[in-house]
Amino acid sequence: MNARITVAAHAKLNLVLAVGPLRPDGYHHLASVIQPVDLADDVTVEVGDGNAITVSAPGLEGGDTLATRAATKYLAAAGTRARVAVSIDKRIPVGAGLGGGSSDAAAVLRALDRLIGGVSQDVLTTIAADIGSDVPSLLHPCATVVRGRGEVVEPVESVMPERRFLLAWPGVSLATAAVYAAYEPRREVLPASAAIVECARNGTFYNDLAGTALALCGPMRASEQMMREAGLATLVAGSGSSVAAPVDDVDDIGALRARLEASGCVTWMCLAR
Ligand code: C5P
Repeated sequence: MNARITVAAHAKLNLVLAVGPLRPDGYHHLASVIQPVDLADDVTVEVGDGNAITVSAPGLEGGDTLATRAATKYLAAAGTRARVAVSIDKRIPVGAGLGGGSSDAAAVLRALDRLIGGVSQDVLTTIAADIGSDVPSLLHPCATVVRGRGEVVEPVESVMPERRFLLAWPGVSLATAAVYAAYEPRREVLPASAAIVECARNGTFYNDLAGTALALCGPMRASEQMMREAGLATLVAGSGSSVAAPVDDVDDIGALRARLEASGCVTWMCLAR
C-alpha cells in the first residue's frame, strides 16, 4: 500500500517566554505562550511497504535530523515497519527562533498518526518531547501554554485576537543551546499560566531570553533597533535570531521592510490566529 499526505508545518512565536532556573537535566524551567503563525514549511509524507526512512529537504545542509528522528520514533512506538519518505519544502529558516525544525518534526508525527495510527496522544507527546522541547506544542494547530521544559502542553481554548506580525530574520542563525548557556536565570518562580495567557491576549509580550540573544547576535541587534526606531514594539522570536513585532496597519511599514531587506534581512508579514 502507498499513502501520502502533505501537512503544513507552521512557524511559531513565543508571545511570552518566562525562563526559570536551570534543572538538573541541563534544561531550564519554562512558562511560555506559543502561537503558530501562517509562515509554514510543506511536509509531504508517503508511507508504503518496506523498511526505510528517507527525508529530503532541499537547501537544508546535513539533512533534517529532527524529521528523521520523528519518523524513527513513531514507527517504533507504533510497533510497525514501513517505508517512510518525507519531503520538506522549506520556507522557515533554520536557527531563526521560529521553531521550523521542530515544526517539521511535529508535522511528520501528525502525518504518520493519520497514515498509520495506533499511538496514543500521551505517547505522541512523549516522543515529541524526546525530539525537542518545542515539538510537543507544535503538535497542536492552536496557541498553547507550555511548562516544564516544554513538554507540559495545554491548548489555549478561547480565541486569541487575530494579529499581524512583521518578522525579520537577519540571515544568520543563532543556536538555542548557546543562548540558554549564556542566559543568567533571574526568576525563581515562574508566572501562572492564566497570567501569561492574559499577557498574550492583551499584547504585553515578553521574552526573558531577548537580552542574551541580542547580546550574542549583532545582525539581530541591528534589525531589532531598526524596528524599534520605526515605532514598533519588538519581540525576539524564541532564542533568536528573528525579531517580530505586531503591526496594525501593513501600509505603514513598507519603508521599514525595504530598509530591513536592504540591510540583509528576510521579512514576512504573518498572521497569528
Ligand atoms: O530541546 P531542544 O533540543 O530544542 O533544546 C536545545 C537546547 O536549548 C538544550 O540543549 C538546552 O541547552 C536548551 N534548552 C534549555 N531549556 C529548555 C529548552 C531548551 O536550556 N527548556
